[in-house]
Amino acid sequence: MKTGILKDLEKAFNISPDEMKRVIRDFHLEMEKGLSGKKSSLKMLPAYIDRPTGGEKGSFIALDLGGTNFRVLEIRLHGNGRIMMPAVMKFALRKQDITKDAGALFGFLASSVKTFLRKTAHGACRDVNLGFTFSFPIDQKGIASGSLVTWTKGFEAAGVIGHDVVSLLKCALAKEGLAHIHVTALANDTVGTLMARSYGDRSCDVGVIIGTGTNACYPEKMSKVKKWKGAAAPESEMIINIEWGNFNKLKKTLYDRQLDASTDNPGKQILEKMVSGMYLGEVARRVIADLGRRQLIFPGQAFRKIKAAGTVRSEDVSAIEGDGSASLSATGAVLRRCGVKSSSRAERALVKNVCAIVSRRAARISAAAMAAVITKMDQKLQRKHTIAVDGSVYEKHPGFSRNIEKALKEVLGSKAGKIKLVLSKDGSGKGAAIIAAVASK
Ligand code: GLC
Repeated sequence: MKTGILKDLEKAFNISPDEMKRVIRDFHLEMEKGLSGKKSSLKMLPAYIDRPTGGEKGSFIALDLGGTNFRVLEIRLHGNGRIMMPAVMKFALRKQDITKDAGALFGFLASSVKTFLRKTAHGACRDVNLGFTFSFPIDQKGIASGSLVTWTKGFEAAGVIGHDVVSLLKCALAKEGLAHIHVTALANDTVGTLMARSYGDRSCDVGVIIGTGTNACYPEKMSKVKKWKGAAAPESEMIINIEWGNFNKLKKTLYDRQLDASTDNPGKQILEKMVSGMYLGEVARRVIADLGRRQLIFPGQAFRKIKAAGTVRSEDVSAIEGDGSASLSATGAVLRRCGVKSSSRAERALVKNVCAIVSRRAARISAAAMAAVITKMDQKLQRKHTIAVDGSVYEKHPGFSRNIEKALKEVLGSKAGKIKLVLSKDGSGKGAAIIAAVASK
């Protein structure tokens, strides 16, 4: 019986090599459309910056907003590919900070900067340049200006969509008496991650985040950015923020449809809802709750709690998959926290398999998207490529990176050897400083 259930789930969540190839083709078509300014699920947003030379120097403040925490960092660039991070502070974002309005959100950011300057005494009284990593789709008008296209990842503060986020930040800093902090750069976290790694590694040409949300960027030839209206040498390059989380040409299960319908942005961020940390636990929960509802697991138990959205987090999925104990006790602990009072070992093993099925699909979709970006730049894979990756799911989920590498081999064969994935921790903050350095040149 259990095997039958698993087989069905495996089939529903399977991304075969052929399916990956189909995804890559559709990804290329959507990329082209996005670059031409046509309607596409990929926004392909120009970032107004190319990769760094590695010689950029200086001391900067960087802000990193886009996940569960807001971070303020002091970054020093030494000009030989070396980056130091003498001070970092994390500020937890409360629901009201991210869901009320622009005044509350940017006020919180500015007061956190003030706390950082007071506590660390770095750059307190002198003029200092600041790079702002704002990890949402922004329609940039320049290196230090851009308006929010749409919120993602549960943020919904009113009065930000369509407004210049740099102006909002500058106003809030001025209100805190911090007018000597100059916001000179605005970047997406993927762009920061690519900048940070390529500062010391010329083969790095993709920045990827697989964390609360997921997305990627890469450098594109200006001749291919058909929607670009400004002046540019056709052979010059500019980094493009793909916003791949919104890619929508993917095979959906019933659980994906139900999850999507329950969000505040139905029909949007479809890939993100199958891949990123904000949703992985919820996909797994929906499968487990459905098996329970059909009495295929935990018969006779009410387990009301697990029927409620949000009870299983992506960290739980990681804990369950990493559970190497003979009795699967860590899995049992997660289930108890989710209201399942007792479970048999076979049931815990089934739950572990469900988690593996869900996260394996996430890794394979990520691999297909990565392969699409690389082959867009280098169709025959003639060069070496380093993909800089950051984000909690990639870093912490057991076997996630291995599953990506395995899938890349399945779809690209031996040529996958040309691709190297590297974890680039704190890339988004460091990268914002590099962009600030380029901008202040
Ligand atoms: C979401 C945002 C995107 C960001 C990603 C990772 O998809 O829309 O801009 O890069 O999350 O944080």
